[in-house]
Amino acid sequence: MKNIKAIIFDAYGTLFDVNSAAEKCKDKIGDKWEPFANFWRTTQLEYTWLRSLMKRHKDFWQITEDSLDKSMIAFNINPKMKNELLNLYKVLSPFQEVPETLKKLKEKNFKLAILSNGTPSLLNQLVKSNNLDNLFDDLFSIEEVKIYKPDSKVYDLPIKKYEIKKNEVAFLSANTWDVSGAGNYGYNAVWVNRNNNIFDYLDYKPNNQIKSLNELTSLI
Ligand code: LAC
Repeated sequence: MKNIKAIIFDAYGTLFDVNSAAEKCKDKIGDKWEPFANFWRTTQLEYTWLRSLMKRHKDFWQITEDSLDKSMIAFNINPKMKNELLNLYKVLSPFQEVPETLKKLKEKNFKLAILSNGTPSLLNQLVKSNNLDNLFDDLFSIEEVKIYKPDSKVYDLPIKKYEIKKNEVAFLSANTWDVSGAGNYGYNAVWVNRNNNIFDYLDYKPNNQIKSLNELTSLI
């Protein structure tokens, strides 16, 4: 990757561990915490795509709550846990290598930004609660265009603000469908493949795949 001017990160699942909310309640939820967390995440994403197709936008926080409601019924979770799970979702933990990697990239003077389905206030809370708020130039939220990833209007946001070319962006995501969306759009998309997953068949294969964000410093 040459001439990279901005490094843009997906938030949920890439910088922050979406399963960490349910994991912090595993004593109360029991062994099913992980399939429950995966079902919640899958339902949440399905709702973003379905609402975009139906043109019935609701923000990511409302979708997170709606998908939690369905998941709690599906997994027979005590309804009293709802507020605890939602509050933990506001302060998800970052993956272990994230703070150090961001600091190193910041020293190299790249523009650093998040581009996420999350609302501006959710993204602010996430970075603040993890002491990462000084590291980002921008937190781009799909709320500016009111349609979810992978609509190209979303990937347009940093291009318009920074007045740079698509191939001057390195876009990092652990979500295969987001890598496909960003790559088809024209970004240099890098797949953060922490768990040895299989890539999608959606017309784009990333040139670069890493197992941890700290490998990024040797790519750029
Ligand atoms: C986000 C979702 C894709 O942060 O995880 O945009």
